[in-house]
Amino acid sequence: MLTGPNIILILKAAVGLVTVLWIASLVALLRKRYRLHGQINLAFMILTLVAVFGLEFLIRVYDPDMFKYFDPATRRIMAIHLCFSVPAAVLLPVMYVTGRSRWRRTHYTLAAVFSLCWIGTFITGIFYLPHS
Ligand code: HEM
Repeated sequence: MLTGPNIILILKAAVGLVTVLWIASLVALLRKRYRLHGQINLAFMILTLVAVFGLEFLIRVYDPDMFKYFDPATRRIMAIHLCFSVPAAVLLPVMYVTGRSRWRRTHYTLAAVFSLCWIGTFITGIFYLPHS
């Protein structure tokens, strides 16, 4: 059933899964397989954005009251989580375009910002958001 806790659990699994892809793309970089890094990150970006828009649909159209049960502490954790995950989602297409266009300086600088945002998304999403 598409209840709030179930959605959070599904999203945790999704974040875990795409993080494996992201780490694989970094391993590809270490091995100088730049094309492969780009291809894995294309999959990472598409899957992540599908999950983001799917969630947006669920909470705005399907059931706007889905997360109404959150207490103030959970709301706070969600707000902190969004401080990381929203910039990460916005940066994904920018990362892709700068990588493909070989705008190296911009790509490397944003890579540092993106890594911080993603690690924050992972930690707050997987360990702090309640799924029961
Ligand atoms: C966060 C850590 C990341 C680091 C350190 C990083 C670093 C790099 C480096 C060193 C290259 C090779 C540039 C060159 O010399 O041609 C590259 C290429 C590329 N990166 Fe990233 N990147 C990161 C994340 C991402 C993300 C999140 C995306 C996409 C969403 C992405 C997409 C690409 C693409 C498309 C290329 C071009 C691949 C090709 O040559 O076909 N990167 N990146």
